[in-house]
Amino acid sequence: MSGPSDNPVLICRVLLPAGRDLLAAQRLEIREGGLDVTASELSDLAPGCAAIIPDPTVPVGPELLDAAGEGLRVVANFAVGYDNVDMEACRERRVVVTNTPGVLTNATAELALGLTIAAARRARDAEVTLREGGWTGWEPGAMLGMELSGRTFGIVGLGRIGRRYAELIRPLASEILFTAKNDKPDAEAELGATRVDLPELLERSDVVSLHAPGGEATRYLIGAAELGQMKADAVLVNTARGTLIDSAALASALEAGEIGAAGLDVFEDEPGVPPELLEAPRAFLLPHIGSATHTARDGMAALAARNAIAVLKGDEPLNPVT
Ligand code: GLV
Repeated sequence: MSGPSDNPVLICRVLLPAGRDLLAAQRLEIREGGLDVTASELSDLAPGCAAIIPDPTVPVGPELLDAAGEGLRVVANFAVGYDNVDMEACRERRVVVTNTPGVLTNATAELALGLTIAAARRARDAEVTLREGGWTGWEPGAMLGMELSGRTFGIVGLGRIGRRYAELIRPLASEILFTAKNDKPDAEAELGATRVDLPELLERSDVVSLHAPGGEATRYLIGAAELGQMKADAVLVNTARGTLIDSAALASALEAGEIGAAGLDVFEDEPGVPPELLEAPRAFLLPHIGSATHTARDGMAALAARNAIAVLKGDEPLNPVT
């Protein structure tokens, strides 16, 4: 890496100072799209860039890669999920892709726990009742929800975040089930968790929390059939990617009382929220804030920058994804 203009870096939207300052310290030319950047503005900013730093809202496909040109060496995603990046297109162009694992594990797992409790205890209905002046006093039979202690928890995808969620809910759980591509004997031993297939997990769990990656391979992993396999009072939590759930099927299942409640932080077509979910009963919805803590977002920004810098210097990236 030599002078400031040799390796321009495109920050597609905004990178927090914890990462931006690292890039600036390398005297790299930084181009920034800003929060409201459009795809065509990005293509105008891209020519000659050696690194692109997108966030999960920015699709990175052939058009942007080709606009950057042959000097592009790395797409350093400012997120752990990388379903916004066309991996095949990057592979074809020999562009390295990196992500930001680890630093957001606690934040996201903690939010999944919060959503679990909020959905199980009907926090939204209770709060709306209070704010709208509908609270007339302590009532023995009002706002009754599900107590989590002694329940069976099912974790779909026991990666870093799923595993941390398992640690957090362990004091509550009578049993922890999980799905994973491979055996995880260490997790089974440390967490007392049992690997099962998805139908069994759905049938047996009182709480189902999703921690699988997004993308075509997992699209609608939870659809009408899967919702039909769940217990009628089960709580479904999603802090992973909205595409894991068929929203229309989930809204119908809530409406029909086929499942108990849902706590969702992610949606199929963000920032759009499917209207049927907005209207569905017993749904607690948040605007994709799983990693929104100071610690996690600073860590993610720094890691994205360090990955970009490593590749530009000719070093191995810290967090390559393949
Ligand atoms: C956020 O959604 C991430 O994938 O890091």
